[in-house]
Amino acid sequence: MATYLVTGSNRGIGLEYCRQLKERGDEVIATCRSSSSELEALKVRIESGIDVSSGASVLRLKKNLKETPIDVMIQNAGIAEFNSLENLDPESILRQFQVNALSPLCFTKAFISNLRKGSKVVLMTSRMGSIDDNTSGGSYGYRMSKVSLCMAGKSLSIDLKSSEISVGILHPGLVSTRMTGFTSNGITTQESVRGLLERIDSLTLENSGTFWHSNGQILPW
Ligand SMILES: NC(=O)c1ccc[n+]([C@@H]2O[C@H](COP(=O)([O-])OP(=O)(O)OC[C@H]3O[C@@H](n4cnc5c(N)ncnc54)[C@H](OP(=O)(O)O)[C@@H]3O)[C@@H](O)[C@H]2O)c1
Repeated sequence: MATYLVTGSNRGIGLEYCRQLKERGDEVIATCRSSSSELEALKVRIESGIDVSSGASVLRLKKNLKETPIDVMIQNAGIAEFNSLENLDPESILRQFQVNALSPLCFTKAFISNLRKGSKVVLMTSRMGSIDDNTSGGSYGYRMSKVSLCMAGKSLSIDLKSSEISVGILHPGLVSTRMTGFTSNGITTQESVRGLLERIDSLTLENSGTFWHSNGQILPW
């Protein structure tokens, strides 16, 4: 049994992570801005009122958790505001950068003392943060924030290696959640999280810092 912390756990992929982890007998610390009935039903430890982009929230969480050891820290919270070139909104781009890129990095730093040899940090990025895979353009804020998150993940994988902490940089697939307008082209959160947990379970110091699709494919930067 391991202890997993999941951010953005009240709905979507974060909620499904909590459900599958609880089902297989792991300890879950579910953080969220506000809880949901689905999350409450899982009977896991819930830390609500945690906005990942707020320093005060992160400090409060740190105070609540003290030095509780965390085996796997899943930075899942994210936002998507699809800015086109015609409709560039610098405020929106900055907001996405703050929530999707800067916050996971600062969150990781704040909880480094909770990690141990063998712990794992998981960053939920997106294929839309792959420069090589970008064939459709647009989505400036989201793409720029996720490519930054990938870079943060790569640096973390190098900087944390001597502490024997590995880093997974994971794309969940196109998943039917509120973020994607519950697209009918997407896979279910259940299928996505089954694949994501396989990737996390097989994450080691040797393959740390790799950019994976939940289906096991290695994605290009
Ligand atoms: N769905 C996809 O196809 C897809 C593809 C690639 C990558 N991803 C990534 O996967 C992750 C989960 O996405 P999803 O599809 O599950 O999206 P979702 O259904 O929209 O859920 C997003 C989650 O992030 C939380 N969140 C947003 N801003 C936050 C903040 N400032 N502080 C704390 N929590 C915050 C939301 O909480 P509230 O309820 O409080 O807003 C919600 O729990 C994201 O990082 C996303 O970029 C998703």
